[in-house]
Amino acid sequence: MTRGQISIGFSLMLALFTGCYYDIEANLYGPPVDCTESVAGYAGYAADVAPMMSTACVGCHTGANPGGGLVLDTHAQQAAAADLMLELIQLPASSPDLMPPGAPLHPCDQELFETWIQNGKLND
Ligand code: HEC
Repeated sequence: MTRGQISIGFSLMLALFTGCYYDIEANLYGPPVDCTESVAGYAGYAADVAPMMSTACVGCHTGANPGGGLVLDTHAQQAAAADLMLELIQLPASSPDLMPPGAPLHPCDQELFETWIQNGKLND
């Protein structure tokens, strides 16, 4: 083998290995997500948080037998439970305590929820 063939072979192997490495990382963690724009465009509770809660949470946290005994129908109920909600929303996807169960919110929705808390949990 010439030096050229060896270095071509080596480059190919490197490309293959790094290619596999990225595949595996993408499967485990998903591609990196940039939420800068969505968080900078945060438009308040009514526009950004309430619809997300209705879709992802209220279905199980309402009525006579809500999950964990926790009703999340109103702004006041959500504001009172917000810190625990954030904690459970941000758990790893594999955690049995994750909310919503087994189906994490999109990372940017998680950040919007956190932004609402940081802005004082307003009903705006
Ligand atoms: C598929 C139904 C379902 C959905 C959807 C769901 N939850 Fe839950 N949730 C439950 C159940 C059931 C429990 C009780 C779990 C337990 O006791 O082990 C619970 C418990 C909780 C608790 C803990 C209550 C306590 O005081 O211990 C919080 C906080 C919570 N959920 C927040 C949320 C939020 C926030 C969302 C939406 C992002 C959500 N849940 C979506 C079913 C659901």
